[in-house]
Amino acid sequence: MTSKTEILLFGATGYIGGSVLNRLLSHPKADTFSITATVRSPEKAKLLEKLGVKAEIASLSDFDKIEELASRAHVIFNVANSDDLPAINALLKGVRKAYETTGELPILIHTSGTGEIAEAANGEYAAETVYSDLNVEQLKAIPETAFHRKVSLAVIGADEQGYTRSYIMIPGMIDGLASGPVFEAGIANPLSIQIPALIKQALDRNRAGMIGPGKAVWSIINIEDTVDMYIALFDAISADPQSVGHGWEGYYFGVSDHVSFYEIGQAIGQALVDLGLAKDAEPTTFTDEELLKHWGSVLAGKYGGTTCRCRADRALAMGWKPKYATKDLLLAGIKPEVEYEFKRAQENGGVDFTKQRKHGLLLKSVLESN
Ligand SMILES: NC(=O)c1ccc[n+]([C@@H]2O[C@H](COP(=O)([O-])OP(=O)(O)OC[C@H]3O[C@@H](n4cnc5c(N)ncnc54)[C@H](OP(=O)(O)O)[C@@H]3O)[C@@H](O)[C@H]2O)c1
Repeated sequence: MTSKTEILLFGATGYIGGSVLNRLLSHPKADTFSITATVRSPEKAKLLEKLGVKAEIASLSDFDKIEELASRAHVIFNVANSDDLPAINALLKGVRKAYETTGELPILIHTSGTGEIAEAANGEYAAETVYSDLNVEQLKAIPETAFHRKVSLAVIGADEQGYTRSYIMIPGMIDGLASGPVFEAGIANPLSIQIPALIKQALDRNRAGMIGPGKAVWSIINIEDTVDMYIALFDAISADPQSVGHGWEGYYFGVSDHVSFYEIGQAIGQALVDLGLAKDAEPTTFTDEELLKHWGSVLAGKYGGTTCRCRADRALAMGWKPKYATKDLLLAGIKPEVEYEFKRAQENGGVDFTKQRKHGLLLKSVLESN
């Protein structure tokens, strides 16, 4: 009997991680995988076990457990937190142990985000620089103080030290309602971060909003296309690790088009008008008071005024093709999300900003420490 590929997943209850898990469970070679996922909730652990996933109760601050689990994995998907340096250090200790024990190079597919290349434009302009993941010198020049960057550098450092093959997925703003068994079972969060937040803010003020004049432009990608990219990379590595670049040659921007926050605001505004929730589809500028209410921090709220542009050259060269290739296709997903959030707000007696404020505080602490 051949042994199974030990896959370890951090973030299985999340939007991206739940989507990755769905695709691993339905992968043509799924019967050759042994999947372990870390979770914080014992209830979700039970539900995961029903899907054939080994669930380990662990938070990202359970360093000994993270190290121990990583030391037994062949492939690790880290989709939990792009900014947790102590957690990644524990994970890398385990990866080093795995290499020293077996002599085989573990695979680490880590998740960052295009926040790494975002400029603080306050909504006033669109970034001019277009990053390419094939331009290693350009990637190396990103400052250490950039968002997510310290963790990405730790991952690349491990690759350079020769005890892992590392790959960094760096998606832009992901959007679209996630679906599949992991979501239907109530295990994972089906919503992304940025556009759902703008939708909740719009529902709260009965009008779409934006930072400044909304001229800031961001890279955007659909969740299915994002996961296609993770799986295309995983398949290529599984087929022949030697043929796939890693470390600095293993950065993968996840992007299919670019969109301004004004355009996002218009799409949200139009959905509000269609649902009879607003009279005017034009977005207006958020006030500091609103940002404080929605994000718990004006600084974090203004993240929606940053700008970045990039190209997914490496994934395209690998044969990845986005299905939602244009901003029009991507923005068409906003109306169902508005309907989803409106229904949730009705059920909860108002818009719930708890998760967003938690995210805002994390964002604030990262931005202030840089
Ligand atoms: N969504 C995007 O557009 C996007 C784009 C680029 C990069 N990213 C980055 O990718 C990462 C995942 O994003 P997402 O949208 O999938 O977020 P999400 O839906 O909030 O999922 C986060 C996942 O990480 C887990 N997690 C977070 N903190 C943890 C901790 N201290 N201990 C254990 N588990 C923890 C969560 O577990 P619980 O269920 O227990 O909370 C959940 O499984 C984030 O770092 C995000 O910044 C996201």
